[in-house]
Amino acid sequence: MSTPIRRQYLAIKRQYPDIIVFFRLGDFYETFDDDARLAASVLDITLTSREMGRGQRVPMAGIPCHAAESYIARLVAAGYKVAVCDQIGEPNGRQLIERRVTRVVTPGTVTDPAMLEASRNTYIAAALLEGERAGLAVADLSTGEFATTEIVAERPEEAAAALQRELLRLAPAEVIRPAHSQEEPDRLGQALPEGAYVTPTDPASWRLHTAERALKEHFEVETLEAFGCAGKPLAVRAAGALLQYLTETQMGSLAQIVELSTYSLDRYMTLDAQTRRNLELTESSRGERRHSLIAVLDQTRTPMGARLLRRWVGQPLLDLEEIRERQRGVSALVRNALARARLRDLLGQVADLERLINRVVTGAAGPRELASLGRSLATLPSIRETLAPAPELAGLAALPECDDLVRLIDTALVDDPPAALGQAPAIRPGFSPELDGLRTASREAREWIAGLEQAERERTGIKSLKVGYNKVFGYYIEVSNANRALVPPHYQRKQTLVGAERYITPELKEYESRVLHAEERIAELEAEVYRRLLAEVAAAADRVRRIARQLAQLDTLASLAEVAVRRRYVCPEVDESTVISITGGRHPVVEAALDAGSFVPNDTLLDTEDQQIVILTGPNMAGKSTYLRQVALIVLLAQIGSFVPAERARIGLVDRIFTRIGAQDDIASGQSTFMVEMIETATILHHATRRSLVVLDEIGRGTSTYDGLAIARAVVEHLHNSSRLGCRTLFATHYHELTALERVLPRVRNYRVDVLEEGERVVFLHRVVPGGADKSYGIHVAQLAGLPRAVLRRAREILAELEAGNRSERRRRREVMEHDPAAALQLTLFAPPHPVLEELKQLDIEALSPIEALTTLYELQRRLREDGS
Ligand SMILES: Nc1ncnc2c1ncn2[C@@H]1O[C@H](COP(=O)(O)OP(=O)(O)OP(=O)(O)O)[C@@H](O)[C@H]1O
Ligand SMILES: [Mg+2]
Repeated sequence: MSTPIRRQYLAIKRQYPDIIVFFRLGDFYETFDDDARLAASVLDITLTSREMGRGQRVPMAGIPCHAAESYIARLVAAGYKVAVCDQIGEPNGRQLIERRVTRVVTPGTVTDPAMLEASRNTYIAAALLEGERAGLAVADLSTGEFATTEIVAERPEEAAAALQRELLRLAPAEVIRPAHSQEEPDRLGQALPEGAYVTPTDPASWRLHTAERALKEHFEVETLEAFGCAGKPLAVRAAGALLQYLTETQMGSLAQIVELSTYSLDRYMTLDAQTRRNLELTESSRGERRHSLIAVLDQTRTPMGARLLRRWVGQPLLDLEEIRERQRGVSALVRNALARARLRDLLGQVADLERLINRVVTGAAGPRELASLGRSLATLPSIRETLAPAPELAGLAALPECDDLVRLIDTALVDDPPAALGQAPAIRPGFSPELDGLRTASREAREWIAGLEQAERERTGIKSLKVGYNKVFGYYIEVSNANRALVPPHYQRKQTLVGAERYITPELKEYESRVLHAEERIAELEAEVYRRLLAEVAAAADRVRRIARQLAQLDTLASLAEVAVRRRYVCPEVDESTVISITGGRHPVVEAALDAGSFVPNDTLLDTEDQQIVILTGPNMAGKSTYLRQVALIVLLAQIGSFVPAERARIGLVDRIFTRIGAQDDIASGQSTFMVEMIETATILHHATRRSLVVLDEIGRGTSTYDGLAIARAVVEHLHNSSRLGCRTLFATHYHELTALERVLPRVRNYRVDVLEEGERVVFLHRVVPGGADKSYGIHVAQLAGLPRAVLRRAREILAELEAGNRSERRRRREVMEHDPAAALQLTLFAPPHPVLEELKQLDIEALSPIEALTTLYELQRRLREDGS
């Protein structure tokens, strides 16, 4: 027979089978059975056991309540969920006390400030995939952000890919999905990013009407029209399912979620996961924040600003007007150095308003946090004033009045209030007359007790008389045995010690009870006053949220302006053209890592109409990869509204940046280096548009020379000739044979990164100049890297032999490149004579100049393709 507590525990545990239950027993949270074994090993705490019924010993591991948060944090960080089961009401010694789960902490629903990163959101997402549609909702409980989107693609795979891209951008700490039945292939499961923390939830909560009802009830609205998702069923279903899950984990208190916004991915440049990774937007290829674009750009002074900047970097804009609006903001702050410095100074005094106001709304904010909210709001008048000389920022500078809140918090709280109530007085004298009265009474009673020792000594003549306090008897008067005779009759003996007696008097007990009573009342009343104060501030939450948003934008713009000034960036001209023209461009991150002035700037010209494809050759270590990324980053910076590292830049809007850079093995997923490379290349060829920017770094390298060369050439031809494409392309390669394409394809141009050869030495100039390269200097780089001398010597020998023997071979390869094999191939493919073939037959080749021949050939080929494919 189990004990009642055991039965109570088991009943609760049954509701949370996959979640570790922290079961409150006195001053401890205990875990039992398998939970205990798990907790003991993850948290490195002692596994014991406890008798919970006759002959039943149950494994148990406990942690002290006051340290619960850090243990919960560790479990959640390790990928577990924790249900916190608290005692409801006070124990009375007889009945079993009621216990209830008060919150469930999962990776996506943590709100404890200690567990959150200031400069990034902790998102939880809900994902749903149906045919060529997907729904995705996302929330951050700490900031109250709640947004949803519906993806509509042409084919199911594309919907899945778009969903995955967006999830990778958000990098949510947890993704919920409908639990799926085992039979069908789990397409959604395949679309979720690898390693994501996935929680399947009841499919019923994902039904349209259930989801819709949950949203309507939460927001207390009749229709979802105002949220912009009324006609988007998958967006509604994802948002509704997410809301239901959050309500369950937060036990119904979701006061911080006050609105839902519907967004469209069409507003933003598409960046797939490998492009984000290749361009090292938020972390370097080694996974560190250092040496990432965000590390260079982030000069924000507030956590909200840092989070917003991160979002901007992840979502470059496609709308010219929006881009220009941001540019105007940055320019204004670049011009007004004084305003910028003052603004950033003031922002430095602003705390995380977005998270603070939500802690106020949910009642979690302690006095110290509330005070910091007040101090942050107190900076608003100065911020408004500072921005007066920048009329471009008038909209953001129009910060709502908050003097009332500042005054309220200031008069209500003491200077430097404690982090939690009860640690020290938090409410300022003068704010609550009732509290003041109680405090005065308490103080007077204490003073009376404090004065008692002296008064009684004088009255009784006992010099050694002492007034003391202990837990059992409360206040007492102690008299040593030697003076017993002098004890007045109204003293009542309470306790006998070895050398002394302890007494009380009715008067002393009266004052004692005043002190104790007052203290209890003070605690109650202070909590009550504080609760009302929080509620009053919470009533202004909308206003504070708006301020938080405006300050985040000001902070982000100021950060971009500060970087622009410090690093000498210029405002790019962004337009509807399909040109990328950069003078003196630099790589923002490499430049920042090098000594000032040592980065070599380079120009770029890409133009769909004329100079569509740049083939970049040059030795190892010359700077090809750096140059490619530099151009992509400048485009990206331009489209987030930032200034760019260049002397001058004109950027025709880019709808998507594609990158294929470096070799990335994906052994875990069973794909070889070359396979990954080809899959990425295929994606580019399928999805690039006329507005895209394609950056290819050494494709075809992962296979034999002939295969690689053939694929590389075919890819360039396709990018050049396909009428759908025409995308601006940068192509870096070690296949020097590819430079021959410049003579065959009219919109291809050769460039190379220059080096200077001084005898044995090679000097890297990092300068991009027109023309092709023909040497790789790979052995030279191997030498720099410290390969053993003997190996280097042998490599030189072999190279010399190869070069001697292969001269004719190389000439042949070059000839193949200049020749247009695509047309030749098609000759054999078309069995019945094609009209183009007829024309070809009629051509008088002798009468054509080489250029004419090429143009004709090109024209014929174009027509063949248009007909053929
Ligand atoms: N414009 C530049 N100014 C100064 N230093 C540069 C410049 N470009 C590149 N570098 C330096 O040269 C190094 C090598 O550059 P990068 O990796 O781009 O060479 P690469 O041509 O792609 O070489 P590989 O053929 O081996 O891939 C960089 O790490 C950087 O330090
Ligand atoms: Mg390279």
